[in-house]
Amino acid sequence: MLVLGLESSCDDCSAAVVEETPAGPILKSMVRKSQDEIHAPYGGVVPELAAREHLLQLRNVIGEALHKAEVTWRDLDRIAVTQGPGLVGCLLTTFSAAKAIAWKENIPWVPVHHLLGHLNAARFAVPEAPFPALVLLVSGGHTHLYLAQDWTHLELLQKTRDDAAGEAFDKTARMLNLGYPGGPIVDTCARKAAKPGEAFTAPKFRDGKAAWSFSGLKTAVKMRIASQPGLDCAGAEDPRVQALCRSLQETIAKWLLKPLPDFARETNAKSLIVSGGVACNSELRAQAKAAADRLGLCLAIPEPRFCTDNGAMIAAAGALLPVAKDLLPMNADADLKL
Ligand code: KG4
Ligand code: ZN
Repeated sequence: MLVLGLESSCDDCSAAVVEETPAGPILKSMVRKSQDEIHAPYGGVVPELAAREHLLQLRNVIGEALHKAEVTWRDLDRIAVTQGPGLVGCLLTTFSAAKAIAWKENIPWVPVHHLLGHLNAARFAVPEAPFPALVLLVSGGHTHLYLAQDWTHLELLQKTRDDAAGEAFDKTARMLNLGYPGGPIVDTCARKAAKPGEAFTAPKFRDGKAAWSFSGLKTAVKMRIASQPGLDCAGAEDPRVQALCRSLQETIAKWLLKPLPDFARETNAKSLIVSGGVACNSELRAQAKAAADRLGLCLAIPEPRFCTDNGAMIAAAGALLPVAKDLLPMNADADLKL
């Protein structure tokens, strides 16, 4: 089965052609246009600019994906498109395009939940991962732990009480004037550190649970920067900046993995799946490997290009979902709060 996957829920405009086989999904082509340069001056995604840019990029992105995969509309068995959650103007761009293409070319289409996309990114790495699986989805907007019994359903176990982990990376890079997007920059900087700086204190909750909160961490970073004059403009080559980045990502990785042993026991989990943009982080990947080994879980982390938002993960998820009953549900809509 050949699937065209479309994703534009935030600032990545991506299309991919994926062949679904009994042995798992095979990538035929993937195109992704980054908008980092457009949003960099603002230090974060500007929704209207992102949506307009998707409109400009989409036609070429889809055309290029089909061309690279050497397929035409007629070869496609279905179109999978992100329905939500995300920025509404951004979602509407590809969602409307998918409806129009499906109608004109008479191709079945499947609306896909963005987070099911992140889950299915792991099928490119370990298509046979055993269930039940603990699924840690960490991105700029999500820090959620789910239980999955298969590749098409997620049951929420725990989520951050405030900020997402990705935001702590992005805001730290912003406070240190290191550039945008913050996650990859902090990661590179941290890997250059000879040793980590002082560890950050973990938040404590009344119920004693290993819950997540990252807004206090942002404040702690802010205070630490303020206590070292000139640090905010010292740059990525400064050893103090590198040490701070290293302690930040060691802290975030440790906190993210802390609830796993209890949940693994409670749920009889057999796998650990980690996905979303923050799953690109080198420290989180290393600590997740160690945690999975300790807990006897099969680890599935997509390679970095499948962790950040992309059309391939939407195609892989869409391949397993039922197609929309009516070929032309033209009243179906994007859903920013899905
Ligand atoms: O999944 P994603 O591409 O978009 C959302 O759905 O949010 O995730 C983007 C997030 C950003 O916060 C970005 O800084 C973070 O993923 N990120 C990283 C790394 N690469 C991307 N965070 C830490 N280390 C990285 N190497
Ligand atoms: Zn995402």
